[in-house]
Amino acid sequence: MSNTYKIAILAGDAIGPEIMTQATRVFDVLSKYRDVEFELMEAPFGAHAYFEHGKAFPDETKAICDKADAILKGPVGLSHEESKKIPVEEQAERGAILPLRARYNTYANFRPIFLSKDMAHFSPLKAEVIKDGIDILLIRELVGGLYFGEKERGINADGKRYVKEVLEYNEDQIRQVLIVGFEQARARKKVLHNIHKSNVLMSSVFWNEVLEEVRTDYPDVEVKHLLVDAAATALCLNPGQFDVMVMENMFGDILSDQGGGILGSLGLMPSACMGPEKAYYEPSHGSAPDIAGQNIANPYSMIGSVAMMLDMSFDMKQESEAVWDAMKSVFEAGYSTRDLAGGGDESKMVSTVEFGDMVMEKLAELIKAL
Ligand code: IPM
Ligand code: MG
Repeated sequence: MSNTYKIAILAGDAIGPEIMTQATRVFDVLSKYRDVEFELMEAPFGAHAYFEHGKAFPDETKAICDKADAILKGPVGLSHEESKKIPVEEQAERGAILPLRARYNTYANFRPIFLSKDMAHFSPLKAEVIKDGIDILLIRELVGGLYFGEKERGINADGKRYVKEVLEYNEDQIRQVLIVGFEQARARKKVLHNIHKSNVLMSSVFWNEVLEEVRTDYPDVEVKHLLVDAAATALCLNPGQFDVMVMENMFGDILSDQGGGILGSLGLMPSACMGPEKAYYEPSHGSAPDIAGQNIANPYSMIGSVAMMLDMSFDMKQESEAVWDAMKSVFEAGYSTRDLAGGGDESKMVSTVEFGDMVMEKLAELIKAL
């Protein structure tokens, strides 16, 4: 009997359903040519879920995610103006994404910052900076720090309004994500960039202490320390110096968007959010309400998230590679969608659906040859 994987499909808001439709075609291709089945279970999640069900992460969606082998999530959220129609605690970020991360304790967020040479024209960086392309794995702690710390608002003794948010980590939270960083570094180039702010933050001093303990198990991995602000500059000036980077939640949020910036678009940033028992996969970008419904959003980050799922949740390495190669070959042939910068040949500007068509055609060819 062939393997059947259950996948929760949370298409999300705005461009979410458009790019999700292309991404799930990968499962159709695989089940057609390989001995594997996928049971896709769609569920509401995000702003539309709030409007239709009163909750951004409804109970029925939780139940579907609980029984899934892995979760594929599209971008969620609305424009700033539209979001205001939703109570703060039910807005997609606080009401859906953070609870999803907490529910499955997805503490290790893998954000590849990858640009092949043939995609170099998307990047705002000069060719001599990009050299042979960019290939960085940014690992972000995803369930601790400022995002999940205690929050307080009030009026102080002077009658002034104040706010307080707590940045808290315990040693286990730090250790577990550092272990992921070291393991990835060991499997790649054996260099780990540890990103922190220990010249100011006590949390970074503590992070680095735990790192010194963890590294004794990885004598083969070289650790390079870099302050987060310096890392921001280095990512622009010389991205080639980085291979695996590891950092806490907030730093990772900011630097991973900068990663999208050096590639030329967040649309080129898929990601994996790994927990001890379950993982979910999502583009690192938002739902781009400004271009929703126009059939111009590039589905790369969504399809790439499926590629990461195949590799990391289902151990289908070859199939995952084939998905990446199929997308690369479409870019190599000069095709693109209008949302990606870099211009190019007008006759090779295709729609979201056409981009999906080309990727699936190539993918079928590659899968049949496996
Ligand atoms: C990301 C996003 C989220 C984050 C938001 C949407 C909650 O920016 O995944 O990087 O800040 O983590
Ligand atoms: Mg972000």
